[in-house]
Amino acid sequence: MSIEQQIADLKLVPVIKITDPAHAAPLAEALIAAGLPVAEVTFRTDCAAEAIKIMSNYKDLLLGAGTVINAQQVEEAKNAGATFIISPGFSPEVSKACLESGLIYFPGIASPRDIQDALADGWKTLKFFPAEALGGVKTLKAFAAPYPGIKFVPTGGINADNVGQYLELPQVQACGGSWMVPNKLMDEGDFAGITEIAKEALNKVK
Ligand code: 3PG
Repeated sequence: MSIEQQIADLKLVPVIKITDPAHAAPLAEALIAAGLPVAEVTFRTDCAAEAIKIMSNYKDLLLGAGTVINAQQVEEAKNAGATFIISPGFSPEVSKACLESGLIYFPGIASPRDIQDALADGWKTLKFFPAEALGGVKTLKAFAAPYPGIKFVPTGGINADNVGQYLELPQVQACGGSWMVPNKLMDEGDFAGITEIAKEALNKVK
């Protein structure tokens, strides 16, 4: 099954910021225990690649790298075991690196121009970011109208209360968000708490 399809089936993509590599294994286990075996580990911390490498030991986990903004990070993510790449905005450099290395890319888009740049490189599932700040569902509907073949993964300001309205749209494959993996719980080592929040999130979208 394609990565796009697996993400569409899961409906949610937890956006993760790991500050301590020791959190990587228990986090992977917490997400798998919740029935949400998918992670976007962001390159917002120096240990992102190390965390991805540890999490790649969990073969049931669909593992991607987020906040990827250059070709070097694409290589680091691939070497660590990531199978997909996400960035906040469309990056020609990241796009080229993904095409060359055979990784799936979900580029961020915030305008029709971004959508067309992504389309020109062949990417058809795009991260609408930052979704809420850009007008949410209303903007997404307007973006979707001219591009019937495009699917979206909105992210940014999405939470348990508003995720349902995005997933109602046929163009929306899944929603991303950090609310499923609160940094506070991770810092406290409360991985059972993360499993509970991820389960609650899944219940909302079933
Ligand atoms: C991302 O990079 O996808 C976002 O920072 C996630 O946005 P959120 O924290 O509002 O969920």
